[in-house]
Amino acid sequence: MMKINVKLCLLLVLTMTGMFAQTNVPTDYLSSEFHKTRREALRSSMPENSVAVFFSNPIRNRANDVDYIYHQDPNFYYLTGLKEPHSVLVVYSEAQEKGGKTFDEALYVYERGERYKIYNGAGVGVKGAQENLGFTNVYKGQDFIDEPIDFSKFDKIMFKEFEGDVRKKGREQPNLYALIEQFKSSINAIPVPEGKEVDAESEPAKSIVDTKSLRKLMAGLREVKTAEELKLIKKAVEISCVGQIEVMKAMHPGMSETETQGIHEMVFKKYGSEYEGYPSIVGAGNNGCVLHYIDNVKLQVGNELVLMDLGAEYRGYTADVTRTIPANGKFTQEQKLIYDLVYDAQEAGIAAMVIGGNARKTDKAARDVVYKGLLELGITDSLEQGRTYFPHGTSHHIGLDVHDLNNWGEFKENMILTVEPGIYIPEGSPCDEKWWGIAVRIEDDILVTKNGPVNYSALAPRKSDEIEKMMEQESIFDKFELPNLDKAE
Ligand code: GLY
Ligand code: MN
Ligand code: MN
Repeated sequence: MMKINVKLCLLLVLTMTGMFAQTNVPTDYLSSEFHKTRREALRSSMPENSVAVFFSNPIRNRANDVDYIYHQDPNFYYLTGLKEPHSVLVVYSEAQEKGGKTFDEALYVYERGERYKIYNGAGVGVKGAQENLGFTNVYKGQDFIDEPIDFSKFDKIMFKEFEGDVRKKGREQPNLYALIEQFKSSINAIPVPEGKEVDAESEPAKSIVDTKSLRKLMAGLREVKTAEELKLIKKAVEISCVGQIEVMKAMHPGMSETETQGIHEMVFKKYGSEYEGYPSIVGAGNNGCVLHYIDNVKLQVGNELVLMDLGAEYRGYTADVTRTIPANGKFTQEQKLIYDLVYDAQEAGIAAMVIGGNARKTDKAARDVVYKGLLELGITDSLEQGRTYFPHGTSHHIGLDVHDLNNWGEFKENMILTVEPGIYIPEGSPCDEKWWGIAVRIEDDILVTKNGPVNYSALAPRKSDEIEKMMEQESIFDKFELPNLDKAE
């Protein structure tokens, strides 16, 4: 019979329950100082005698007892650095006093029970939030319920409208559902403030409840990046560029879309990127005409163009980079004409990424080039018809979200946006069939600076001849052969 090794068991249990502080892990996350100064910036933008309440993202179920990988609400992460569910952040515009304590914010976290820890580790908890996230005023989620905040004393209670996908059931208690229920009942119990009018259908506190302003305030903060954020974004973008380069070298007509995706994502992981910032898009030929094609199932890309739109997520920040390459290493005449037209449109768009510009101007600059070019090539009969082949916008902010929060105003220094014109000519389009199945998007991540646009994704070749040259290079994947598992028995 096997002897039980007591010491080993203890070590295993301690490790599983996360009682050893983890070392040998990345340390280049946003600093607690960053999150603190962001909360201060929010506080100073809040109206007098107001309170802002943020809830963590819900857990989303995949199947049975398996959940999707948890992703924190970007505003919550931006302000706290906490990546765990069932949490609440409360930010007060002015200092509050309670029980002899003065504070202007409070964080409520989920304190994991012993059984939960066996499966999922210790988590941050109250102590971790104080020691590692730099919060002084931290409580258990249960305290949010047992010692309810008196919201009636504020002139404004700001929060984001709840979306209907918060699960009531769950082992963790109090869970997000319970925290939200508590909050709702607190604000619904507030009497109508004297002299304030409310319509018959609204809850009593309606006149002081504000579910709109917070979005604008948070967008104002998040749309301009700090140096600390830009460092992480640059890393995410450059990792994505190396992915594009390695695929350019490895690509051949026999490769599948899935394998192509795998090479990109392997590069991401090799650099320590946690996830993809959005589902990876790899579309050969006509598949590239589907703007967010994420099936990636074609078994052989053949001699077509392969449109690859992928972004590594690094320490929470995502890149968004697209390259379109000829699978066999050489653009056909038609492919090159379309590719170079998109390139010229992108150049015009990038040139418009200046302080005082805006996404509309960038879009127009790129769109004008595409429309004129399509007309000259005889693909369209009029300029307006160009929209059929370029049906999406040219530019969006990136950051914690791939389509990052912003107020769509004038460009300011240290905003970072994509410039991504495209031309998509699906099979059966009303033009000469020699153009059918050609889809090209070129997408770069452009920083707005005092000295003009800076292309963070310049590392990945973008000109048609530079791509062809890169594709001539040898690849480490040329030798990456695996056993055939489908051999007859
Ligand atoms: N990757 C999605 C987009 O380019 O917006
Ligand atoms: Mn994009
Ligand atoms: Mn993209």
